[in-house]
Amino acid sequence: MSICFDPNEKIFYLNTPNTSYVMGIYCGKLLLHLYYGKKIDRFVNFIDYLPVAVDLPFSPIDIEETNASSNLLPMEYPCYGNVDFRTPAFHAEYENGSTLTRFEYVGHEIAKGKKKLNGLPATYVDEDNEADTLYITLRDELTGIEAILSYTAYNKIDAIAKSVKIQNAGNQNISIKSVLSSTTYLFDKEFEFVHLEGSWARERNIQKKSLMNGIMQIDSKRVSSSHTHSPFLALARPWATEIQGEVYGFSLVYSGNHIEQVEVSEYDVARINVGINPFGFNWILAPKEEFQAPEVVLTYSNEGFGKMSRTYHELYRSRLCRGKYRDIERPVLINNWEATYFDFNEEKILNIAKKAKDVGVELMVLDDGWFGKRNSDNCSLGDWVADRNKLPNGIESLATKITELGMKFGLWFEPEMISEDSELYRIHPDWCIHVEGRKRNPARNQLVLDLSRKDVRDYIVDSVSNILKAAPISYVKWDYNRNISDIGSEGLPVERQQELPHRYVLGIYEILERITTAFPDVLFEGCSGGGGRFDAGMIHYYPQYWTSDNSDAIERLYIQHGTSMVMPVSTMGAHVSAIPNHQVGRSTPLKMRGNVAMSGQFGYELDLNTLDDDELELVKQQITDYKKIREVIHHGNMYRLKSPFEGRNTVWEYIYKDKVVLMYFTMFTRSQLGKIQVKLQGLEDSVQYVETLSGRTYSGSYLMNVGLYFDNNKEFNSEILVFEKKQ
Ligand code: GLA
Repeated sequence: MSICFDPNEKIFYLNTPNTSYVMGIYCGKLLLHLYYGKKIDRFVNFIDYLPVAVDLPFSPIDIEETNASSNLLPMEYPCYGNVDFRTPAFHAEYENGSTLTRFEYVGHEIAKGKKKLNGLPATYVDEDNEADTLYITLRDELTGIEAILSYTAYNKIDAIAKSVKIQNAGNQNISIKSVLSSTTYLFDKEFEFVHLEGSWARERNIQKKSLMNGIMQIDSKRVSSSHTHSPFLALARPWATEIQGEVYGFSLVYSGNHIEQVEVSEYDVARINVGINPFGFNWILAPKEEFQAPEVVLTYSNEGFGKMSRTYHELYRSRLCRGKYRDIERPVLINNWEATYFDFNEEKILNIAKKAKDVGVELMVLDDGWFGKRNSDNCSLGDWVADRNKLPNGIESLATKITELGMKFGLWFEPEMISEDSELYRIHPDWCIHVEGRKRNPARNQLVLDLSRKDVRDYIVDSVSNILKAAPISYVKWDYNRNISDIGSEGLPVERQQELPHRYVLGIYEILERITTAFPDVLFEGCSGGGGRFDAGMIHYYPQYWTSDNSDAIERLYIQHGTSMVMPVSTMGAHVSAIPNHQVGRSTPLKMRGNVAMSGQFGYELDLNTLDDDELELVKQQITDYKKIREVIHHGNMYRLKSPFEGRNTVWEYIYKDKVVLMYFTMFTRSQLGKIQVKLQGLEDSVQYVETLSGRTYSGSYLMNVGLYFDNNKEFNSEILVFEKKQ
């Protein structure tokens, strides 16, 4: 068992292969966080917390038996109401207007495996022996409110998955104002706050800042995890690198308003809070009801960021993504968006598909513009019926013709949205999120459907399902092109209006669950103006995500590198597009564009008919090369050898079974830089590796210590080397 309880000391130990998470029951009632970090065998100085807990000015005593103040104790699930002046995880209002709660330990249970989270995405186990789960019940005696804290420790992966369920076992309605998913502590403040910041077309830049006393936080109030801040936080030693130093990761499996907060107290103890953003949140919980907060996945690495990311990659690739496509390699695709935008017809699409088929592409995706009368982005969202002007014989005929070419066919949808100029809006103007009497603010000329309403959810499931049933469609790109403002629902009573943001997220999860279950053979790719909702929650439903609308090869190095902090490369859509690039105007060689896109789910986003013969030959070669390495990219362990955020080069390495793929890129150069040394990682010292192009053989220790040298003098230079273990 990876979880055990010492009944004498009243201490819980959760162990993964290299880490321990330790909690203790203090005075028979308070659940304290004692330790998280490198594996330890036994926690001995439980009692040493007490000296910091007494006799300090302005930290009044609230625990008489011990003279302790909860302002100093590392409460595992802090609630507002004790003498704890830090930000609580739980804050609720009761019928008498009071907002005080006092959670005390009442019992626990340790079980094999891991249960599903009701209505929410979460990591899982295939077999019960992969993990153990600890459930701890805390209770507020006065109101009967209970918090069930659950902790899953994986036996072979250094990950702890935490979540919280609130049960109203009392006899009054309560208003939950804050219900975070995880609180943990670090007992010194010498850490950097590391997070992924961005915007549309510039997603997931790595930012680092030293902790200071007070609060540092990132969040989203957009009802989407957002381009702006990913629901992820790492706390890393200032000296941590890709290969060394302590790094703690916190990844929230949720796609709506989130918060990741570190509060360093006057005693230099850091409290880390992660969960649904309490801003704009209020949830009424009636007697006998329960509220499930989303899951947070924690990992600790003492081998730097590289090990942290590989832990997330392994867990998310194999125990968060689901379905048929979890383990199988994905088709090379071509998407018409940057090739045609809204200006296409059946013939144009068939021409793109035919050319693509000739060079080895396996899937043709028809993007936005095929439905209603959508010739620009100002109309028709909600009217999921083919535009007969562009597609006289409908989607069915086009899909059949593409299938007859020997390719698969995929289709774009944006089902959560509604255009004011649409049949749907004319019939159901009340179906969008809005506040009666206030302006409905469009973004990209569209409003958002109110997914808290069952009739709206059913409409979406039916309209998408009807199309998927009627035509041979093997892939869906599910887009979501704005964030949600003007929060208000005609379907919810006055006192529940602030439940809308979370109900929206539950609504999209329910829709995706229904559709992906009904169409298990369809490959779903998520999208939100590129990577705007590319989070751990979404990849439970879509095993891949369009990483960014920015398809420039150089920009993509930053975006894909930052994304790989948490997300496995198997989830990242990456395409070759035309030059000059449509987003930034840069021209990079086709070779480089191809090589960058090969570090992901590979495809093209241009009209291959515009390429000359030499270019087409290169495209053909790229597809052939990718097919040889895609299993390594899909399943491999990733090592980030050089970061675009730290120099002129990016180097990534992937290892899977007997193969190693090394990808080298020079982004910018200056005169006379000579060659650059690249040392590989993760190989076996005495194994011989053959580089397949030159036939040269190197030992693992040579590649890892002497390394290879690459030309650093040419801008946009890029190489992919493949090594195979010599048998
Ligand atoms: C979003 C997506 C693009 C494309 C357009 C279509 O911006 O990210 O890839 O599908 O919508 O409108």
